[in-house]
Parts: sequence; structure tokens; C-alpha cells
Amino acid sequence: MTTPYARVMIIRRDDPAQPGRKQIFRVPFVPGKTVQQVLMELFQDRDRTLAFRRYRCNRGVCGACVVKVNGKPRLACSTPMTRNMILEPAEGHPGIKDLAVELG
Ligand code: FES
Repeated sequence: MTTPYARVMIIRRDDPAQPGRKQIFRVPFVPGKTVQQVLMELFQDRDRTLAFRRYRCNRGVCGACVVKVNGKPRLACSTPMTRNMILEPAEGHPGIKDLAVELG
């Protein structure tokens, strides 16, 4: 049996003045795993420069982990991964780096 994989494209904003840079990862697809868990694994195992907001409540309450998933604002800690994901920084907030935005 082969391991199912997911394709994760991250629109990184290394420089807020520049348009996003696309970075694509292939990761094991695990039903029920959250977007936040995928980001944590990518950071820990593949790219220590990836910036995103780490969870605070990890229960879908505080809103600190908001990102755009396939064009829609979602809470990374409570959104399950899909087989094909495009992750971008949330709109309407000043960018800090990559997926991390400043929240008021
Ligand atoms: S960490 Fe609080 S909503 Fe995701």
C-alpha cells in the first residue's frame, strides 16, 4: 500500500514589499491532521525559516492562527488538511513574514 500524499503550496512573503514567492511541499496526507500541525511539521523537519503564527488556544477560539486556505480565511488549528492546499497570509492584516500577520 502506498502512502497518500498532499501537495502544499505556501505563498511566502519574505519581503513585505515584494509579491509572494511560491514554495511547494509534498507531505504525507493524514486525514484529520490540521493545517497548523502540517505547518509545525514543515517548520520542524523541512524549513526552519518558515514563519507563521503558532497557536495559542489550539481550539479555534483566539483567532491567532488565521491563514488563507485555498482562498478562504480559516483557523489553521481547527482546519483539517486537504490533498491540495494553497496557504497564504490572511488578508486585511499587515504582513510580518511569510504567513505571519500582525493581529490587532
Ligand atoms: S490557535 Fe486559537 S484559534 Fe487557532
